Amino acid sequence: MNVFNSSSTLGDLVLAQPAAADLFERLGLDFCCGGSRTLGEAVKERGLDAATVLVMLKSLAESPPAPGAGGHDVAAMTTGELADHIVTEHHNPLRAQLGEITEMLDKVVRVHGDGDSSLAPLREQFVAIRDELTEHMQLEEDELFPACRKIAAGVAADVGTDLLAKLEHTHTDTGVALAQMRELGGGYAQESAHCGTHRRLLESLAKMEADLHQHIHEENNLLFQRVREMLSLSV
Ligand SMILES: [Fe+2]
Ligand SMILES: [Fe+2]
Repeated sequence: MNVFNSSSTLGDLVLAQPAAADLFERLGLDFCCGGSRTLGEAVKERGLDAATVLVMLKSLAESPPAPGAGGHDVAAMTTGELADHIVTEHHNPLRAQLGEITEMLDKVVRVHGDGDSSLAPLREQFVAIRDELTEHMQLEEDELFPACRKIAAGVAADVGTDLLAKLEHTHTDTGVALAQMRELGGGYAQESAHCGTHRRLLESLAKMEADLHQHIHEENNLLFQRVREMLSLSV
């Protein structure tokens, strides 16, 4: 079935064509928390032309395979492989990013905070996101992912509907908080950087945002859906 049409969801389009993630990032189309919306709805909200976006998507499909998702065919993974992939490719790198960004932000606020009043609120927002995500990843690793590995091995596993709902709620909050942080960071425009560390900080924040969109997409639109289907949960 040809998935490249306006009634496909953004999440399904990225699963079918991982390179669409970069295109959607550039166009400001939210494919992670907003991944259940159709392409038609999403482009309309952004004031874009659906036919043009479809041509761009089709040209991606006709190009040589792009790495997308770091070269991983996540849709072909078992539920257990997907949980392992998320820990290795998303959680562990994110923990490292959060530590590096904390150091850079502390330094930039210390050196330039007095002369630039936008820096302290940026750090405050980042710290809130960092702390929330640190707790969230641990919860996924302690409770959800072990159950995913059991399910993949055909062993009964108990996943409460409230756990999935709680995790999805944090994803939605994170999507909103990331957009707010981008605003506080002036769109991460390099021209606003006061020094080399500030430039690297802005680059790192932009990269963390894009990585988190892919990470949340793989959880919301693939892993959680699989868990729900396998457990026949209705929420
Ligand atoms: Fe995660
Ligand atoms: Fe998550």
